[in-house]
Amino acid sequence: MSLKNCHNFEDFRKLAKKKLPSPIFHYIDGGADDESTLRRNTDSFNDCDLVPNILASVGKPDLSTTLFGRKIDMPIFLSPAAMQRLYHHEGDIASARAADKFGTFYSMSSMGNNTIEEVSNISSGPKLFQLYVHKDRSISDDLIERSRRSGFDAMCLTVDTLVAGNRERDHRSGFTTPPKLTLKSLMSFIMRPEWVFNYLTHKKFELSNVAKKTDKGTNIAKSVMEYINEQYDPAMSWKDAEYCVKKWNGPFALKGVMSIEDARRAIDIGCTAIMISNHGGRQLDGSRSPFDQVKAISDAVGDKLEIILDGGVRRGTHVLKALAAGAKACSFGKMFLFSLAAGGQKGVEKLLQNMQDEIRRNMVLMGCKTLKEVDISKIIYRK
Ligand code: LAC
Repeated sequence: MSLKNCHNFEDFRKLAKKKLPSPIFHYIDGGADDESTLRRNTDSFNDCDLVPNILASVGKPDLSTTLFGRKIDMPIFLSPAAMQRLYHHEGDIASARAADKFGTFYSMSSMGNNTIEEVSNISSGPKLFQLYVHKDRSISDDLIERSRRSGFDAMCLTVDTLVAGNRERDHRSGFTTPPKLTLKSLMSFIMRPEWVFNYLTHKKFELSNVAKKTDKGTNIAKSVMEYINEQYDPAMSWKDAEYCVKKWNGPFALKGVMSIEDARRAIDIGCTAIMISNHGGRQLDGSRSPFDQVKAISDAVGDKLEIILDGGVRRGTHVLKALAAGAKACSFGKMFLFSLAAGGQKGVEKLLQNMQDEIRRNMVLMGCKTLKEVDISKIIYRK
């Protein structure tokens, strides 16, 4: 199995599984509780069908659009994801470079292993920063200020992770940040010597953007669930979100909006975008999927907000269905982290190339020259 043979999500996932120590693979592969939402996120795309128009003289379709005030070359981007150094020793640098090359957004997590400044030095491409509201508000303020100084284009505030979801695979594997060698996990690391070599011979693992403010997660090993529950404010409110929107004073998305009512409130506090997301099924199991909600939310507020669908996307056709239902763009986490594990920057580039090819090919087959033509007339819901 090599990168060349990675044609789809499952191929990247298999290669990532071969390369990563199992606690790390399961940390990203897993969801909350029974993982029913994790599965539903992708399955929901099968509840509607594409309806092509023939002989539309498409030629070469135009995949470009605008998002957060920047032109992007295709309607997909990399979701914010924590600790990318776990998947490849170049971490965020590899993902940011790949996204830049494909003219789309790279997103940095508050729990990144590279600093805001490091990434802005290597990429002039579109960049989104993902914020958590910390109990220590000086941490969130500092992240907003530094993102602004470093020329990030937009900010998103994650609102679905006030407490950690119950990730039972992590309970079983004992996964921590930083990864800790225990008797239980020893074998899984011994079986992946290349990963261990790269981990030990490159930049020290740290939660780079917050390491000066807290030792937790950097020098003090914590499970991600413990980290979230200790650091983030479970009492975060609309007032706190509004404070962040005003402080940033630029393109701003709430990430984790799932209802029409909350989408309306996002507009009221000054957001320019929402990410319809259930955190990749890692938080509230039993939640509806982003695709289940996108049409209703878009019908209600799509003319006032940019709508991003985040969750379950595995194929170019999923992106087209999301766009037809009212999304402006889609983002994905797991799929790109598997590609990062599979081959670093080259792995992410291969994934973005696959997705670009799929979207382009399917637009020709659909008879759509531009993304505007991928509208509600192009899908029919079953039932
Ligand atoms: C997670 C958080 C850290 O899902 O985004 O693990």
